[in-house]
Amino acid sequence: MTFDRRIRIAPSILAADFAAFGAECRAVEDQGADWIHVDVMDGHFVPNITFGPQMCRAIRPHVRGVMDVHLMIAPVDPYIEAFASAGADIITAHLEAGPHIHRTLQAIRATGKKAGLAINPGTGIDAVAHLLDMIDLVCVMTVNPGFGGQKFIHSQIDKIRSLRAMIGDRPIHIEIDGGITEDTAPLVAAAGADVLVAGSAVFSAGSVAAPEGYGARIRAIRAAAEVARGAP
Ligand code: DX5
Ligand code: ZN
Repeated sequence: MTFDRRIRIAPSILAADFAAFGAECRAVEDQGADWIHVDVMDGHFVPNITFGPQMCRAIRPHVRGVMDVHLMIAPVDPYIEAFASAGADIITAHLEAGPHIHRTLQAIRATGKKAGLAINPGTGIDAVAHLLDMIDLVCVMTVNPGFGGQKFIHSQIDKIRSLRAMIGDRPIHIEIDGGITEDTAPLVAAAGADVLVAGSAVFSAGSVAAPEGYGARIRAIRAAAEVARGAP
């Protein structure tokens, strides 16, 4: 994975057909997705359950590019190795998931994978300042984690702007997760985001049988973000 700040679109398979993950991953990648975002939920850290490392391992052969694994689980540390060996390229853990995020990020980096730090809407960025040398990505949640299809929380835009200033020229992606559409993508891109997760917006626009809808939606979100940001 090389670093740059081009706008990347990461469809979340949380909104895909759960009986056809392999085909869904291939379809969105063929239609221009940059990363595949995989939402792991445990029914404890968040009030919903999705899937674990075995599912990640099963879809890995169907993902040509980056598999971006968002862990909404607590505890995290006992499962890092399992997600690493399942083929994740990026492993993102929540700042709120336990008392030792520094140790968690060290453990992710120790697997050789990229380390992501996710922050909930109610969490500020002060703690991020002390972790900048150990992360490759900050995931700013623009909904409360647990479900797809929620409404974008506008109060997070100032946070994104502050985070962008804090990061400066460090090679750290700013990923936005929750409620991304053609309408909200420009707001977060203008504030400094470069990776846009989009679940329902992408997967509601097509199907494995009619994947052109995925492509149209991915291009529309990307274009809206690029216009808002100006020259790359
Ligand atoms: C929420 C997940 C998101 C979610 C986004 O807990 O982390 O990745 O799938 O879905 P949309 O794009 O539908 O808000
Ligand atoms: Zn996510």
